Amino acid sequence: MTNLPKVIFVLGLPGSGKGTQCQKIVQEFGCVHLSAGELLRIERSKPGSQFGEMIEKHIKEGTIVPVEVTCSLLEQSMKKEMEADKAKDTFLIDGFPRNKNNMDGWQKEMSHKTDLQFVLIFECTEKECVERCLSRGEAGSGRTDDNIESLQKRQLIRTHISSTEPIIEFYEAKGLVRKVNGSRSPDEVFEDVRKIFVGLKKK
Ligand SMILES: *[C@@H]1O[C@H](CO)[C@@H](O)[C@H](O)[C@H]1NC(C)=O
Repeated sequence: MTNLPKVIFVLGLPGSGKGTQCQKIVQEFGCVHLSAGELLRIERSKPGSQFGEMIEKHIKEGTIVPVEVTCSLLEQSMKKEMEADKAKDTFLIDGFPRNKNNMDGWQKEMSHKTDLQFVLIFECTEKECVERCLSRGEAGSGRTDDNIESLQKRQLIRTHISSTEPIIEFYEAKGLVRKVNGSRSPDEVFEDVRKIFVGLKKK
């Protein structure tokens, strides 16, 4: 039997420290980081892409790209990495699944082609995520009204919470959820992450 790609979904609110932790995991455990959002952005600007126009439309309108497209891009990337280097068989999938539809699509299209190890979740209170997002000035201009901006962040974060709830429930029932408290310094958070990944490598 061929070696199926090992997959770890990484979920967490904006500001949960997910990005920083992914970098650390890649450095220490040699996993390949795949950001669903980044794959879509790359595909959008690729000349002659069969999906480019459709992705463009969804990004512009702020809607979610059909799950078949995202799954296909993830599958292609995993294949490419594994063909180039057989040892690169463990993938951190960041920012996917975004909602129940994404998850159902993955279960249907990809679950038999991959070996899902666990779902890593960086927990962070709504209040803290909003503060972190604001302090790194994601929305950017510096002159926007702070109250409006924090309200927008709060809404974004609430939407995120409600759309990932069914995902967490589904994988929790399968015993695949690993939660890490993200409300600490990156090094402290990574201590806990390390314990989870050391277990993975021993398998
Ligand atoms: C997460 O860690 C912070 C800082 O140590 C602590 O105040 C908080 O209670 C923890 N949250 C949970 C859910 O354990």
